Amino acid sequence: MKPKVYVTRKLPSKRAMDLLFKYLDVDLREEEVPPSKEEMIAHLEDKDALLCLLTDRVDAETIRSAPKLKVISTYSVGFDHIDVEEATARGIYVTNTPGVLTEAVADLTWALILAITRRIVEADRCVRTPGCWRIGWAPDFMLGMELNGKTLGVIGLGRIGTAVARRAKGFGMSIIYYDVIRREDLEKELGVKYVPLKELLKEADVVSIHVPLTKETYHMIKEEELRLMKSTAYLVNTARGAVIDTNALVKALKEGWIRGAALDVFEQEPLPADHPLTKLKNVVLVPHIGSATYETRAKMADMAVDNLLSVLAGKRPPNLVNPEVLKIRPLEKVKMIELKE
Ligand code: GLV
Repeated sequence: MKPKVYVTRKLPSKRAMDLLFKYLDVDLREEEVPPSKEEMIAHLEDKDALLCLLTDRVDAETIRSAPKLKVISTYSVGFDHIDVEEATARGIYVTNTPGVLTEAVADLTWALILAITRRIVEADRCVRTPGCWRIGWAPDFMLGMELNGKTLGVIGLGRIGTAVARRAKGFGMSIIYYDVIRREDLEKELGVKYVPLKELLKEADVVSIHVPLTKETYHMIKEEELRLMKSTAYLVNTARGAVIDTNALVKALKEGWIRGAALDVFEQEPLPADHPLTKLKNVVLVPHIGSATYETRAKMADMAVDNLLSVLAGKRPPNLVNPEVLKIRPLEKVKMIELKE
């Protein structure tokens, strides 16, 4: 009998889907919206594996109600939607998809930096709105901030933060960063300077967030931090919405503590269309599309399936989030299939 897997959405890679059906008994969810908790629990009751998205909450109760579960493979780099501690305690392997989406997210971060500093979305709207573009060209029309010579502050110099910093060099920016881990190797290679968080917020012209969402980073940027930023500075977030206190950000944008913000991620997703952020002119808002390229989403699918099959084949998966699990339930105890090359 094949191991049973609950796959919460069809993935955009034929290779990935074919592999799943080849080795596993697949319970594939057809709907686009995330499953409810009840639905998750009902489907996981008899499953050996789960392949989920970042929108699918896998909390302690859900994990506890899946007695046969051996692996949770998420089709995302972020795993804040999974209770990893609970999974580890129960000997469940958790895997993610790092690396393959780094460049796509860094590109989107730069698209947002350029869009907010040069008012691209506002300008596009103006061209389409009768009466807005009244004069062909005017010395003070639609002015934005020049990036050359300015300072980029990267919060979190991991894979994506580093890729964002690399691109900043091409725009002639100085780069400062804050991270809980000092990256002296990268300081030399990229010419980036480490500064404490408060200093970064005070000095940067563009602050870009690249930390995972954890207990420590939840609301890392709130009123106090926003008040430290320059009134001419911009805040960009392509990490997780809850790293910023949204209410404080709305206040900062309304009262001009900072000049603008560009956001791909929100505390509540989808962001309600009538949310106070949507009423502001000095923001660019996009719907969590950091990794949304054809290339990256296909690679993520392959990686998520390879991770999942590796565990069930008793092999260490390429992207294991909780290596401590290896001691709790060794790989030979989760082995159910033989992979053919
Ligand atoms: C996207 O936000 C991801 O975590 O993959």
